[in-house]
Amino acid sequence: MHKDMPVTRLSIGADLASRRGLRAFLMMLLGVTLVCATASAATKKSQNAAPAQANAAAPAPSDYIGADVCAACHQEVVNGFANNPHTRMTLMHGDKGITCENCHGPGKAHAESGGTTKMFNFAAASTQAVDSKCLDCHAGAHPDFQRSPHAKAGVSCVSCHDIHKSATPENLLKASQPQLCYQCHGDVKAALNMPFHHPVNEGVVKCSDCHDAHGTFQTNNLRATADQNRICTKCHADTRGPYVYEHAAVKAEGCLGCHSPHGSQNARMLNMPSVNTLCNQCHSRVANATIHGMGAGSDELAPCTDCHTFIHGSNINAAFLR
Ligand code: HEC
Ligand code: HEC
Ligand code: HEC
Ligand code: HEC
Ligand code: HEC
Ligand code: HEC
Ligand code: HEC
Ligand code: HEC
Ligand code: HEC
Ligand code: HEC
Repeated sequence: MHKDMPVTRLSIGADLASRRGLRAFLMMLLGVTLVCATASAATKKSQNAAPAQANAAAPAPSDYIGADVCAACHQEVVNGFANNPHTRMTLMHGDKGITCENCHGPGKAHAESGGTTKMFNFAAASTQAVDSKCLDCHAGAHPDFQRSPHAKAGVSCVSCHDIHKSATPENLLKASQPQLCYQCHGDVKAALNMPFHHPVNEGVVKCSDCHDAHGTFQTNNLRATADQNRICTKCHADTRGPYVYEHAAVKAEGCLGCHSPHGSQNARMLNMPSVNTLCNQCHSRVANATIHGMGAGSDELAPCTDCHTFIHGSNINAAFLR
């Protein structure tokens, strides 16, 4: 309830001067918070409680000292940050923005005490505290994170991202895909090693082409699109249509009605070992036999797609024939 306390620190886009009135308001709010906090303090005593409340007291601009001062004791960290996308924060507020302290909180007391007074320490903080810090600035791009299966399972921003020692300069990831994901999703690795698979291990397709690790409104963290098949048709444009003669199965069941998304033992990543078995799930064998002028069943038929070639839909033939 209190983790979303408004502006407990300088955030980008914030104008310092306009904060003064706000701070007075925050002090009032803090009073209320403290009452609640005391009530729950007995049960919720954690190491982070103290710094969190200190932060809530809306630090004065003079509590921020700038990265140059940090460099006196954290030279390597500051040097390592030169090309970090977060250095852009320095350019804000008319080039008076701050970098380190936007994440770690104001550093004056910490610097003056020679490091004894603690900064916000992401490595030691709870996942909720970390996520809410990062989301202060990134909720706009990732509004669904809190309800994602990842957040619910306690997988936080820093489970996948490493701010200071990232393996990929782009997106600041701990490891590049798909290794990052395989650390926790070993079963998917097995699927992507099957005889017929999306070339993810080969580096052609990425997990994030289909999934958004930050959560979506879809199940399975699937990227949301207007038409759910579009996750696939953005690459397989020839299956998209619209067609004069649509195969109702493609629209109703979606691509996954017939294909496995990761990999399969079957050619064309089909769900079934034989095309005919796949089709006969919906088209009865008996009916097929009649249509095709055969005896007791359609078992003798050649693979359906030998003749019904344009299985995803056709502009010229209602039976998807060549
Ligand atoms: C006068 C020296 C000094 C200055 C200046 C300084 N630090 Fe530190 N900092 C330390 C020491 C000492 C530690 C403790 C290191 C340890 O325990 O390994 C530390 C630890 C930290 C930690 C780890 C969490 C913690 O509190 O233990 C963070 C984060 C940190 N500093 C950030 C900063 C930032 C950001 C600045 C600039 C705003 C800064 N420091 C300025 C000396 C300094
Ligand atoms: C975008 C947020 C962010 C910014 C900006 C940032 N840090 Fe950090 N910092 C982190 C996170 C997250 C960690 C925890 C370790 C990690 O994931 O890399 C951390 C860890 C640290 C640590 C502890 C390292 C250790 O030994 O565990 C220090 C010291 C530190 N940061 C200093 C700085 C300084 C100095 C700057 C400015 C040059 C800075 N940080 C800028 C997020 C940030
Ligand atoms: C399960 C792993 C995972 C978690 C957890 C995660 N990310 Fe990411 N993040 C990624 C991957 C992979 C990319 C690059 C591909 C993409 O954009 O989806 C990325 C990209 C980003 C980007 C840059 C591109 C963009 O879309 O904005 C930002 C910013 C970002 N993440 C912030 C966050 C924040 C903030 C959190 C926590 C609230 C978080 N991430 C949690 C894996 C993760
Ligand atoms: C005070 C605001 C702020 C906070 C807090 C913050 N970020 Fe950022 N972040 C930014 C800005 C600004 C950028 C640069 C955006 C741009 O280039 O468009 C950025 C960029 C990123 C990127 C994108 C890198 C790329 O390649 O484009 C990632 C990933 C990211 N942040 C993750 C995090 C994570 C994880 C945390 C928490 C540990 C965090 N950020 C905390 C402001 C913030
Ligand atoms: C730190 C471990 C970890 C990492 C790294 C990780 N995940 Fe997850 N992921 C989980 C957990 C835990 C869950 C929730 C439990 C579950 O459903 O397996 C989950 C859930 C998911 C789900 C939803 C499954 C469902 O049943 O709804 C997808 C999709 C997913 N992760 C994709 C990814 C992708 C893509 C990456 C890499 C960018 C990734 N994950 C990285 C741990 C991780
Ligand atoms: C071509 C698109 C695509 C790619 C690439 C892809 N996925 Fe999926 N993934 C899906 C779809 C679609 C589902 C939903 C399957 C269902 O509903 O039966 C899914 C389901 C999942 C699930 C939950 C169910 C399960 O099978 O465990 C996880 C976890 C997952 N994917 C992780 C990953 C990871 C990790 C990667 C990269 C190594 C990845 N996916 C690459 C499309 C993709
Ligand atoms: C990022 C692009 C991309 C996305 C998204 C994508 N695919 Fe693919 N798909 C590929 C590539 C690349 C191949 C390998 C093509 C090859 O080997 O000729 C492939 C192969 C296939 C194959 C096997 C084709 C063959 O000739 O054997 C099927 C079936 C397939 N994808 C279905 C899907 C489905 C279903 C989805 C949605 C869940 C999907 N694809 C999403 C790029 C993508
Ligand atoms: C009714 C079942 C069915 C549905 C639904 C379906 N497919 Fe297919 N798809 C097949 C069959 C069967 C083949 C194999 C055709 C062959 O072997 O000639 C195939 C082949 C493919 C291929 C290989 C290249 C090609 O065109 O022959 C791709 C790529 C593909 N499908 C993607 C998709 C995508 C994307 C969707 C969703 C828009 C989808 N499929 C929906 C049955 C289906
Ligand atoms: C998920 C169920 C499903 C699967 C699997 C399926 N179909 Fe269909 N198919 C349908 C539906 C529903 C129609 C529309 C039937 C109608 O309009 O009466 C249809 C229509 C057709 C038509 C057009 C003729 C007609 O009756 O309108 C042909 C030909 C066809 N399917 C062939 C196939 C073949 C070949 C396969 C296997 C690759 C296949 N279908 C797999 C559900 C399916
Ligand atoms: C040797 C070629 C061939 C094979 C193999 C074949 N079909 Fe056909 N199918 C046809 C022809 C030709 C028609 C008649 C088209 C028409 O009446 O316009 C037809 C008609 C159909 C129709 C009804 C179309 C309509 O317009 O009413 C369905 C459904 C169908 N086939 C499904 C299947 C299924 C399922 C399989 C595999 C089990 C299969 N077919 C195998 C050639 C074939």
